[in-house]
This record gives sequence, C-alpha cells and structure tokens, in this order.
Amino acid sequence: MDDVVILGIETSCDETAAAVVRNGSELLSNVINSQINVHRKFGGVVPEVASRKHIENISGVVEQALADAALDFGEIDVVAVTNRPGLIGALLVGVSFAKGLAYALDRPLIAVNHLEGHIYANFLENPDIEFPVVCLVVSGGHTSLVYMESHGCCEVMGETRDDAAGEAFDKVARFLGLGYPGGPAVERAARDGQPGIYQLPRVYLDRNDFEFSFSGLKTATMNQWNQLKRKQGFANVNDLAAEFQAALVEVLVEKTVLAGLTREVNSILLAGGVAANGLLREQLASRSREEGLRLYRPSMDLCTDNAAMIAGCAYHQYLRGETAPLNLNAYAGLDLL
Ligand code: KG4
Ligand code: ZN
Repeated sequence: MDDVVILGIETSCDETAAAVVRNGSELLSNVINSQINVHRKFGGVVPEVASRKHIENISGVVEQALADAALDFGEIDVVAVTNRPGLIGALLVGVSFAKGLAYALDRPLIAVNHLEGHIYANFLENPDIEFPVVCLVVSGGHTSLVYMESHGCCEVMGETRDDAAGEAFDKVARFLGLGYPGGPAVERAARDGQPGIYQLPRVYLDRNDFEFSFSGLKTATMNQWNQLKRKQGFANVNDLAAEFQAALVEVLVEKTVLAGLTREVNSILLAGGVAANGLLREQLASRSREEGLRLYRPSMDLCTDNAAMIAGCAYHQYLRGETAPLNLNAYAGLDLL
C-alpha cells in the first residue's frame, strides 16, 4: 500500500495541537500550543476563553506542523480531528477547521474519539503491540479500564462513578494551594513528603470489580487537612500530598493488574494525562512485571493532549474505511469508546 500521511488536529480542551504522522507511527511533526498560562490565573480551564484561544491559534499551529514535517498541504492524504468528548466550543473550532481543510484539499476526513486517541499514543511508538490488551485511560475528564480485542474494538470494563483521577489531582491541588495544573503540582509536593504519615482510604480496592471512585478520597483529603489544622494548628502539605497520590495510584495499579489477569491478556497499556505521573508509571511497571504482564506506556510528551495520537488512531480508522461526512458534528459528552 502507498504511504498514508495524516494531519491530526486536537482542540478538545486547552491545548491547540496539530501533528503529521505517516503510516500510523512515523511522527513527522507534533506541535502543541498549551493555554496553561492563560487559564492558570483562574485555577482551571475556562471554556469560553479556551475556544477563543483555539480560534486565534489554530491556523498557525497547523501551518507549523506542516512546516516541521517539511510538507505542503497538497501532500496531506487525510485530515483527522477529535470530535468527542470535550468542551463543545473548543471541539467545534478543530472540527470546523478540519472540515474546511478536507473540503478545500478534497481529502477524506476522519473523526477521532479523544480517549481512543490517548490509547493510540501507545501504538505510535509500538505499532506491533499484540492484542488483546487491557488499557487504563486516566485523564482530567475520564478514568476507564478498556479491553481491546483488536484495533478499534474497545469494551469499557469499568470506569469512575464520580471524579476522574486527573480531576481529583486538580481539585486537591487547588484546595491545598499547590497550583495548576494539579497533577504535576501534587507530584512535586509528594516528592518532599512521605506516604503513611497520614492515612487516606483506598476506595473500592476491596471490591472485585473495575469501578473507581475518587470523589470520596478527595473529600477525605480535604477533611483531614481541616481537622489537622484545627486540632494541631499545622499539617504537612507534602506528606498529605504523598499519601493522596499513594492512595489513588494503588487503586489504579491494582485494578489494572486484576483486569489484565482476569482477561488473560499478555500486555497492559497506560494512557492519558495522568499517565505522566511518575509513581503510577513506576508502580504499574513493577506490579506488571511481578504478574508476568508486559506494560506499554507512552513517552511523557505523548501522555498529555496532543494531535500525534489523533493522527495515529485515525490511521487505523482509515484502513477500515471509517471516514466522516462533511456535516460532521462535535459532541461534548459522548464518552463511550
Ligand atoms: O489527557 P489530559 O492532558 O487532558 C484530558 O483529556 O483531560 O489530562 C490532563 C490531566 C489533568 O487533570 C492533569 O492534572 C493530569 O492530567 N496530569 C497529571 C500529571 N500530569 C498531568 N496527574 C498526575 N501526575 C502528573 N504528573
Ligand atoms: Zn486528554
């Protein structure tokens, strides 16, 4: 088959991103314009501001992705875009831009599910991963265990009943005054603290299923902080951050390993923004090794939102003939894989 060069576009949250990927795994460029500094002063992503920034940035980001790949628009074979789930106004910027481009270039358009995109960050770097696999998808908006029998065949085994793992990191960081985005801030604080000095619950760990709940852990963290301050007038933020991170990571790791063993897969995959967490990466690696499971993790810059993973995922959809019509819409909450 001839080479397939795909331009991927991603605007589901606060990163305006474009990337060019050849044949699903050859990364020709990967441009990410992060709005973190814009949203930091609000302590979280402001949807209306995100949409406006995407509009300002998208042309330049796409042009940069082509320039970095040393390609002209005419050399793009397929245009791929995230159309679900995410902030609706943010998604619409990418979807509208991609539709215009696909129409102008007379190229096929492919609609990609953001969560499936995260999973495909693994296939960018390791195209020959053997199926079936179990994947833990942990981001700011989602926490799911997904069983994949083959490319595109995703079954959700379990997910969070309330807060996503990344959301819990962000909310706890905000409460403790550690900064934004919360995941890296908690991780930094935890490095100077010790787990076990304070005690927090491992929620749902005793249940033999694949559901998660992080809202209770978040509330327990906040209550413990308030109580310590009231009773002792002091609490060590680093120790509390370390215990929160340990409690959350232990549940993610044990449930993922159990899911892999239950489905008798050879490999497990880690994906999503929280996959950048050092403790999660280390503990999942060591528990997988103990249980004879092979672990794949994206490199750090492919964990958080990017468009390379979108183009990588789109390649397999393209091979299956799953192109989208030019009246493609965006969907905020379609979190089904
Ligand atoms: O996948 P992502 O970039 O966006 C969504 O699709 O949601 O994930 C962002 C989330 C945020 O909640 C952020 O705090 C979290 O990933 N995150 C981390 C780390 N880096 C990013 N959480 C824990 N440890 C990290 N090092
Ligand atoms: Zn994401």
